Amino acid sequence: MASAGRGQWSGKAGFILAAAGSAIGLGNIWRFPYTAGENGGGAFVLVYLAFVLLIGVPVVLSELSIGRFTKLNPVGAFKKLAPGTNWKWLGGLGVLTGFGILAFYSVIAGWTLSYLWGAITGQVGGVTTAEQSNAVFEALIGGSLVPVILTAIFMAMTILVVRGGVSNGIERATKILMPTLLVMLVVMAIRAMTLDGGGAGIAYLFQPDFSKLSVDVIMAALGQALFSLSLGMGAMITYGSYFPDRENLPQAGIVVAFFDTGIAILAGLIIFPALFSVGVDPSAGPGLVFVVLPSIFAQLPAGGLFAIAFYFLLTIAALTSTISLLEVVVAYFVDEKQWDRKKASLWIGLACLVFAVPSALSQGAVGGLTDFLGTGVTYLDIQNIIWGNYSLSIGALGLCIFVGWKWGIPSALEALEASGHKLQGHTLWSILVRFVCPVAVGAILVYIMITQQYF
Ligand code: PHE
Repeated sequence: MASAGRGQWSGKAGFILAAAGSAIGLGNIWRFPYTAGENGGGAFVLVYLAFVLLIGVPVVLSELSIGRFTKLNPVGAFKKLAPGTNWKWLGGLGVLTGFGILAFYSVIAGWTLSYLWGAITGQVGGVTTAEQSNAVFEALIGGSLVPVILTAIFMAMTILVVRGGVSNGIERATKILMPTLLVMLVVMAIRAMTLDGGGAGIAYLFQPDFSKLSVDVIMAALGQALFSLSLGMGAMITYGSYFPDRENLPQAGIVVAFFDTGIAILAGLIIFPALFSVGVDPSAGPGLVFVVLPSIFAQLPAGGLFAIAFYFLLTIAALTSTISLLEVVVAYFVDEKQWDRKKASLWIGLACLVFAVPSALSQGAVGGLTDFLGTGVTYLDIQNIIWGNYSLSIGALGLCIFVGWKWGIPSALEALEASGHKLQGHTLWSILVRFVCPVAVGAILVYIMITQQYF
């Protein structure tokens, strides 16, 4: 049951910064640009934006309504709304997914720390060719001790914030980190867009070439919209559960969705002009930020500073997301098992670190994990597929069905509007939650299973 001591955001702004901090992460700055680059640029971006509006916003509001009404973690929330049913397992899947995503996300976040260090010491800026850059990347991620230590450092930072609690830990950290991130991104975008030849990068992002549209592109855009908005595992249920009663939740939720999307576009406005200014192919895949960018920084005026700024903000963005991943699991143990928050943060964080070790070692250090059970993909990729693709999609689908058909739109709307602030266009919201979202998310799930598409 909810206890009075669960904590609460100090106000709407505190919630917006924390929730946007969850949404804005490696998904925006690392995954969005390379996914857009692999899927033809403008056309992908347009479909992605449509999905944010048609699916992202309605699902954000659905999760928030559950959180606000129940003031509980995902498991407790479903237990309260549908007692004695199996819906609690959907919450359980969410908590497990938070743990699962954290266990590989923290590994990639650890790489950003190492690039930040490399940028500070000049090693990253000193790379001049893509081959050299690739060698640096592979030496880093293919090691055994360093990737594990970096993951541990990142986990320790996450634990430190989460153990501080909702307003003294998470809100206090995100209030500093998010504005810093925003200012740095804007400065870097201006710098990148004014590079010689940068205009072609802007055109690539905004001029849709519809001949590039395919089922793959559409599905990639839908998956990206869910992942980027932290949907499908109850992160927004949990953050919504700390929302103060008096404040305008529908508006805050919509602001978070737009904030997240704006940051993805800003990241694109940094990366694509930079790529085009030196004539690099934007479809380089997941290595784009780690392999391609360092060799570009080396060619830019003040590239060394640019590199430090970029990896610093990537680290910040990742941290505010890992905080939310750990918080979902911690909230479960605090609410349902009456654990002390400090104890829960420490032990869950450490347990997650143990589960992260195989992912950290899977990029070369351990042969069997590098080619996981002969599947041709690494253990980290497998984790990404299980938690980041299947699990989030199942979660989002279940959530829409729950809100649209079990709990019901009228109850969800009442919770959303509890402070008296109305949700404009709630009929449209109802149609999207009941019909459009389940069909679209169900389609992505079937599609992922049939094609075994990973990101
Ligand atoms: N949205 C985060 C990002 O873009 C990732 C995330 C997914 C965080 C799910 C929490 C829950 O990096």
